[in-house]
Amino acid sequence: MIEIRGLAKSYGAHPALQSLSFTIEAGDMFGLIGPNGAGKTTLIRILATLLQPSQGGATVDGHDVVRDAGAVRRMIGYMPDFFGVYEELKVREYLEFFAATYGLRGAKRKATVDGVLELTDLKGKRDAMIASLSRGMQQRLGLARVLVHDPKVLLLDEPASGLDPRARIEIRALLKELRSMGKTILISSHILADLADLCNKIGLIEKGRLLYAGGLKEAMAQVQGDDLWFVEVFEETDRAKGILEKQPCVEAVEDAEGLLRVKLRPGTRDVHTIPQALVQEGLRLKLFKVAEVTLEDAFLRLTKGEVS
Ligand SMILES: Nc1ncnc2c1ncn2[C@@H]1O[C@H](COP(=O)(O)OP(=O)(O)O)[C@@H](O)[C@H]1O
Ligand SMILES: [Mg+2]
Repeated sequence: MIEIRGLAKSYGAHPALQSLSFTIEAGDMFGLIGPNGAGKTTLIRILATLLQPSQGGATVDGHDVVRDAGAVRRMIGYMPDFFGVYEELKVREYLEFFAATYGLRGAKRKATVDGVLELTDLKGKRDAMIASLSRGMQQRLGLARVLVHDPKVLLLDEPASGLDPRARIEIRALLKELRSMGKTILISSHILADLADLCNKIGLIEKGRLLYAGGLKEAMAQVQGDDLWFVEVFEETDRAKGILEKQPCVEAVEDAEGLLRVKLRPGTRDVHTIPQALVQEGLRLKLFKVAEVTLEDAFLRLTKGEVS
């Protein structure tokens, strides 16, 4: 649905994006993750046809973002990181204004506005002044606005930033619903945890370079390693540590307040010998479990170049 090929962008001599290539498939929820200044907004603005690439290009549903910008604009809903809200307007007036700019009139316009109000859970606020809405509601209104022309593709630049936890949860629920409606969604964030379990694919970007693009599960699997295990026994932690350290497959054992972190030698397969050895020595095993990689760990390891 979105194809990015050798895309580069410089502001003067400053390279903001360097030769990015990746694809987003129809129906994907693609999380673009990177620290501030990484180039997320620049990339999204190029896809939204608001900025011209310096090199390379991109297409949305086959339409070139430079040569065929009009067609791209009809397909996308773009929500910028900061959008001016017309605070002196009522919610309904604001949405009707945007619906009108897309050529919707009369009963069709009313039905469309009612539809997006319903979807974004703002029906009860239709006659409220925008200025009176909470930040979370204003953000949902921003989403309602980009939905009036029923775009297939949504480009959302940090839609959850600056929201309180509750408003974040509401936005997440709304995004999941939009995805289940079949929309292709590109969403950016500098907060990893925002995008875990929301996105099926992620792209990691840092200093204008793409470090990883692909499945979220695959990213985790690449850094999983299966080489760190947690062991806990009843009472005799020190003795357990000594026994573990003597196992041929064990590289190191660390005692974290009763929880033993057991690092295995690379390539170890037969981990079952570990609980076996402990039980044989008469220890009472409480826990034996592989350490799961968090998205944070995965990100750190992928960005440190430990994985190609
Ligand atoms: N209009 C601009 N003029 C000059 N430099 C810019 C401009 N916009 C962004 N930059 C620079 O480009 C880099 C990427 O910025 P941006 O795309 O906003 O990153 P992000 O959205 O990931 O925070 C940063 O170093 C930023 O300072
Ligand atoms: Mg940005």
